[in-house]
Amino acid sequence: MKTKAIYPGSFDPITFGHLDLLKRSCKIFDDITIAVVVNPHKKPLCSVEERLAMIKKATRGYGCIKIDKFDGLLVDYAKKINATVVIRGLRAIADFEYEFQMALVNRSLNKKLDMVYMMPSVEYTYLSSSIVRELASLHGDISRFVPESVEKLLKEKFKNV
Ligand code: PNS
Repeated sequence: MKTKAIYPGSFDPITFGHLDLLKRSCKIFDDITIAVVVNPHKKPLCSVEERLAMIKKATRGYGCIKIDKFDGLLVDYAKKINATVVIRGLRAIADFEYEFQMALVNRSLNKKLDMVYMMPSVEYTYLSSSIVRELASLHGDISRFVPESVEKLLKEKFKNV
């Protein structure tokens, strides 16, 4: 039986770190839904539609992937699409506390849902979407961290800033 996995996140924007994790995940799972969170309390840099389009472009050719968005609780979305595994990246120790908390809260809400943590390649251990946003806002070079289409969109967003 196929194991259905979700890779949830803000992806604001998607980076090479996310893609590294996805490539690794595709070796383990053959049905992965990248799920972009829609959080009404946060003001993202990129709209949900922009993020979905960036992810679609960046993951072209990754056979195992579907792309979707969700709001509300992750456990409810997992139930809705019959996913039993949540994939998350662990970069440095700084990620651990939040992820540990999230894993245990999610498990207490749905015992059938397991979190699987993966380490990205070492060159992406310091990379985050927030660092990319900051660099882009200050007109720094982000080409080493994100696909070309993402770089273009972020440049456009900050061109008059
Ligand atoms: O990329 P991010 O911002 O680290 O992703 C965090 C995300 C979207 C996985 C997390 O905030 C989430 O699951 N949000 C949905 C709401 C929810 O279920 N909250 C309880 C988890 S403790």
